[in-house]
Amino acid sequence: MTLLEEIPRETFREGSIPVLETKRLILRAPRLEDTKPVAALANDRRIADNTARIPHPYKASDAEGFIAGANKADGEAVFLITLRDDTVIGACGIVPHESTPELGYWLGVPYWGKGYATEALHATIDYAFTDLGHDALQAGARVTNPASRRVLEKCGFQWTGVGLYRIRAINSSAPIDRFRLERGIWSALKTWGRMKRVS
Ligand SMILES: CC(C)(COP(=O)(O)OP(=O)(O)OC[C@H]1O[C@@H](n2cnc3c(N)ncnc32)[C@H](O)[C@@H]1OP(=O)(O)O)[C@@H](O)C(=O)NCCC(=O)NCCS
Repeated sequence: MTLLEEIPRETFREGSIPVLETKRLILRAPRLEDTKPVAALANDRRIADNTARIPHPYKASDAEGFIAGANKADGEAVFLITLRDDTVIGACGIVPHESTPELGYWLGVPYWGKGYATEALHATIDYAFTDLGHDALQAGARVTNPASRRVLEKCGFQWTGVGLYRIRAINSSAPIDRFRLERGIWSALKTWGRMKRVS
């Protein structure tokens, strides 16, 4: 799936967080009953080592803390990514970060390589630029994480440079490729996608 494909969007809201629908996925606010699947999927070093805040090992209490704390801060929109039968497969979200909100995401390893991250991020990005009215988004990927870099590129993000990011699971900082998506680029890609479909 690419940014050029139209995505069926929001259907209804859970509290302040909408439910976003895509062709294969539903993105919704995390709930306490998601603790077990979230803990099972996130307890993998391949996820922790590539995200800033996920600890390793990742216990049920970590999942409870994540779920209880999600969507409490101003400007934060955290979603669980589920298949259409409500199987939890990962998480993504937008959190305030300096002057530009930051996009974060991870998928359970059994679900890698099927285009799910790209599909989930397209819906999240559309939500950020429409409902939330953001002018730009930023994201980071460890320089050793080509899959994440590719997902960002498929969503229209452009590389802006390299920085250092604290990675909790390795208790250290690591080099990160920084990316940015401006509203104008997002809007142009959406328009181009619509024009391609009618031509
Ligand atoms: C990064 C991550 C979200 C990708 O999820 P995914 O559902 O597999 O991603 P998609 O299938 O949508 O796209 C992956 C793309 O990366 C490409 N890719 C995968 N491994 C790659 C590699 N080693 N080198 C180059 N490209 C690679 C895939 O081919 C695909 O691109 P394509 O569609 O052009 O073929 C998942 O690997 C993950 O959760 N990783 C750990 C956490 C993380 O890195 N989070 C992001 C940082 S915040």
